[in-house]
Amino acid sequence: MSFSADRLLLFGATGDLAQRMLLPSLCALHDDGLVAEDLVIVGTARSELDDAGYQAFARTALERFLPDFRKGAIDSFLARLRYQPLDANQTDQFAALAAKVGTPRAGLAIFLSTAPSLFEPTIAGLKASGLAGEASRIGLEKPLGTCLESSRQINDAVARAFPEERTFRIDHYLGKETVQNLLALRFANILFEPLWNAAHIDHVQITVAETVGLEGRVSFYDGAGALRDMVQNHMLQLLALVAMEPPASFDATAVRDEKVKVLRALRLIAPDEVVTGQYGAGAVGGQAVPAYAEELGQPSDTETFVAIKAHLDNWRWKGVPFYLRTGKRLPERTTEIVIQFRHVPHSIFAGKGARTEPNRLVIGIQPEENITLSLMAKVPGLDRDGIRLRSVPLDIRMSDAFAGPKKRIAYERLLLDLIEGDQTLFVRRDEVEAQWDWIDAIRASWADHGLTPRPYTSGSWGPSAAIALAERDGVHWHE
Ligand code: BG6
Repeated sequence: MSFSADRLLLFGATGDLAQRMLLPSLCALHDDGLVAEDLVIVGTARSELDDAGYQAFARTALERFLPDFRKGAIDSFLARLRYQPLDANQTDQFAALAAKVGTPRAGLAIFLSTAPSLFEPTIAGLKASGLAGEASRIGLEKPLGTCLESSRQINDAVARAFPEERTFRIDHYLGKETVQNLLALRFANILFEPLWNAAHIDHVQITVAETVGLEGRVSFYDGAGALRDMVQNHMLQLLALVAMEPPASFDATAVRDEKVKVLRALRLIAPDEVVTGQYGAGAVGGQAVPAYAEELGQPSDTETFVAIKAHLDNWRWKGVPFYLRTGKRLPERTTEIVIQFRHVPHSIFAGKGARTEPNRLVIGIQPEENITLSLMAKVPGLDRDGIRLRSVPLDIRMSDAFAGPKKRIAYERLLLDLIEGDQTLFVRRDEVEAQWDWIDAIRASWADHGLTPRPYTSGSWGPSAAIALAERDGVHWHE
């Protein structure tokens, strides 16, 4: 298992993800000398290109998405690229692909970034052509199904050719440096862990806000919606990292064992614990933007916003709500986690007229990584009229603390781990299935109650009912 692949086979090599993320990430890894000298990258897709044609295609993508990159670095990277056209539904075409890949010295890493409908035939073709042997591992890009059943079907098909220890399911949020830093914050400091439980935490908020809209992803996004596109994967992974017990070590089994326990502890939510919305026309960042239905060209019941009050039925989190919200066309792009601590049990300052506010830890994931802990402090003065206290922030800006190290994008880390065979930041089958189990129950309840998304103005924080969802518990969304 522990081989470092010297061949990388990219399915969906001409797709959007390949252009925006995969080729730029591989080029950056190449430039930093992080991949083996002899690593060959074979791209495949339906387009009829040859090696030179794909290299030209990749150059255009790299010049667009890595505009400041040295030309020399791009040239030497392109020399690694080969291409083989393939219709994944034609099993007999895989023999030519296998010939193009050749015999790896150490092993083959495969990355599948194609429509889910192509997963099964692709796996079958890989198996039939001998590309799925013991020295091969496979990375799978989402969406891995649209519900528990379809995800099981995909996972079963994959398992027929690749055992779990050679299957790498991607959730690109786990590749974000800032998301991994959550583990450092929790488990490399003594300060937080003793307080990280229902006795000291009042509630948790997780917000993933985007300013973008449909972005032309009509066939994928419409019908999928925010719950399946963002909550099922990224948000539940963030929740699992916030809520899990300390793993014994930072390795794939220990970390994933703890995450899956959290995901299985998610309580089925009541119908009044979820709000969905769909953006109407409005303005984001000063730009007028059309309604979702207008972008789509027809009316739709797809939710572009969802807010949920979630609960974990376990000892640590008994009675602590986790408020989750995500949406498109919100006022700003921001991903953050808020840990709201409880009040001190008794204020010694109350008799002096001072009010205390509970501490709050805000973990900013993107666009900037900042950690802010609000602490109570005494307002300077002689206190003749009583003591005054005020909340002051203890601020850590990661870009200042670590000004030197280069900022990496998530796929650089994930592609490197796939090539080298480290599964820690990939999602295990039991996690995905626990995620779908919970999401399917929410969707079933929407269907039972005939819930349709409420309109919200683009550039706002979603439907007012989402604000009410928190406020009726006396909680304000952090903005
Ligand atoms: C993807 C979703 O998984 O994540 C997109 O399909 C979303 O709809 C994207 O825009 C957000 O990723 P990031 O890294 O920009 O927060």
